Amino acid sequence: MNRSSAKNHVPRETIDEILSRSDIVEIISECGVSLRAAGRDFKALCPFHTEKTPSFSVSVQKQMFYCFGCQTGGNVISFIEKHQGKSFRETLEWLADRLNIELPNQDPRVIADRQRYTTLEDINRFAVEYYHNQLLNDPAAVPAKRYLHNRGVNASTVRSFQLGFAKSGRREFLKIAMDKGFTTQQLVDVGLIKDEDHGPQDRFWNRILFPIHTERGVPVGFGGRSLSEEHQPKYLNSPATVLYDKSNILYNLDKARQSVYKEQRLLLVEGYMDALMLCQSGIENVVASSGTSLSENHARLIKRFVPEVVIVYDGDASGFQAAQRGLLRLLAEGLRVRVALLPTGEDPDSFTRQHGVEAFTQLIDKAINLIEFQIQAAIQSREIRQIDVKTQIVEELTETLINVENRIELSEYVKYAVRELQIDESVLWQELKDAGLKAETSAPRQTRQRKTAPQKLSVRAQIEHQLIEALLQNPTLIPYVKSRFDSQDFTEPRYIKIAQLLWQAETDDAAVDIQNIINNCSDENLNAFISGVLLRKTPPPNLQARVDGCLKKLRAFLMRDLEQRVRSSARAEGADEIQTLEQLVKLSNERRALSNHDAEDAPNENINDERS
Ligand code: UTP
Ligand code: MN
Repeated sequence: MNRSSAKNHVPRETIDEILSRSDIVEIISECGVSLRAAGRDFKALCPFHTEKTPSFSVSVQKQMFYCFGCQTGGNVISFIEKHQGKSFRETLEWLADRLNIELPNQDPRVIADRQRYTTLEDINRFAVEYYHNQLLNDPAAVPAKRYLHNRGVNASTVRSFQLGFAKSGRREFLKIAMDKGFTTQQLVDVGLIKDEDHGPQDRFWNRILFPIHTERGVPVGFGGRSLSEEHQPKYLNSPATVLYDKSNILYNLDKARQSVYKEQRLLLVEGYMDALMLCQSGIENVVASSGTSLSENHARLIKRFVPEVVIVYDGDASGFQAAQRGLLRLLAEGLRVRVALLPTGEDPDSFTRQHGVEAFTQLIDKAINLIEFQIQAAIQSREIRQIDVKTQIVEELTETLINVENRIELSEYVKYAVRELQIDESVLWQELKDAGLKAETSAPRQTRQRKTAPQKLSVRAQIEHQLIEALLQNPTLIPYVKSRFDSQDFTEPRYIKIAQLLWQAETDDAAVDIQNIINNCSDENLNAFISGVLLRKTPPPNLQARVDGCLKKLRAFLMRDLEQRVRSSARAEGADEIQTLEQLVKLSNERRALSNHDAEDAPNENINDERS
């Protein structure tokens, strides 16, 4: 199931042939998207999000698509993967089939394994349908329907989540599935039947079933909710199987992904019911970790779809701790993370039912970041009214806050902390100064910036953007830039990544193929970004001159970095003052010669609106 290993089975030449013979416009039309010609490109209502005016565009010349609304984009392979929920291999098979190209055979063991998985998936599909029909039509499901009704779950949610019901008998599903031709062993393998001493029997009985899917919509397991307190556990889940590994699965991601693209943000909740009820109230970019702790795989999975996560765990001690662990896990993968705090005793489902969606949305908007969360953690776990406890918390916070580099941010945190701790602001600033905060940079006097204001790219980042843009538009410039500029010298993480991909792809014999880069990069955010750049603009006439301009300005910035490093090492003890001084003079002369002060100029056009 691993994407990258699956990719290795098809040789590069075959992929190239498939790509060169598949026309993206033709195929997207074939998939039912009605494209209308607009200049040299084509436009349509985006199939990946709901919209009234078309922002989905397809370029014949570049053989790429991009939606300016939800920022989904890529080549024909990415389109089929997303639109049909196929894997990379399946997509190639589909495209090859259209063209009558024979894909090279896979290892027979791989084929056999795949056959086995397919059967197990079929069993799950069959089970989802069977249990769903039971809920809708079997007289024994009346109490289950009443239960769902009482919890506010409406009929269309029951349908879209394919909720099911397992009756009280112990061999209900077993009989039906055996009649259908599945073997006991297969049914055990997929986790729906338990092999007990007294014979095989159904795993689920007298429970409401929540089918669990992979991010591609393949059913792999179930969560079963009991209808009464007496029937324990509250939720019984499928065991781990070859299809279902809970460290890889986020409940509802298959349905959430479109809305996630659109919102550029994912809500992470604990429970099946939380995800389901939020969807019903129109908040669709939500997935549930299903009570398990968040794994590295989860974090990576999320990162394929979205750069920002808001954790909305239950308002109790264990929810708080789980949120703390989840926060660190997600941060470690480089995601932007905030935590929304629910009132004690509430979960997203109960909160929304009681206070409404508006209130819930407000709560999400007020979600706090790591530092604010640490402040909360310090406060919530202890009795802050005791003066010695308060003193200790202030000391701990000082240690954290002293690391915040941005002064405006720091002052925001200080304000937040003093409000929560009910202490005087000057006290905390004094603590920070005592702990080594530089004197000249105490509390900023200016009025504070709105945090929610859209982030602007710095001048330097804008120039980096222009350089990357030029390289994507004309890949023949890559060797030129590669020999003059290091990928690590970009300051924006995503430009570093793209530069690394471009630098890697560049070999002596062939020009870099952007299509191929998209095929090999599993970061959907980057792919969308690349397609976006390519479809947004036709390249300006003199790209070489633009590239030279960018390089010059960026090198001036680098020189300045270097100067700063020399300067701070000069401040360190034991430095040779004369030598450092010489170095500094030389550097600043070089920089002046190079830049003619134009590094400070804003770039030609404003590209800030392009940032998600
Ligand atoms: P919760 O106890 O918060 O349940 O567990 P919930 O989702 O709010 O469900 P309701 O509203 O009481 O019906 C959160 C998640 O932890 C997992 C389930 O995935 C659940 O959705 N869990 C919980 C289990 O797997 N087993 C359990 O016994 C309890
Ligand atoms: Mn609940």
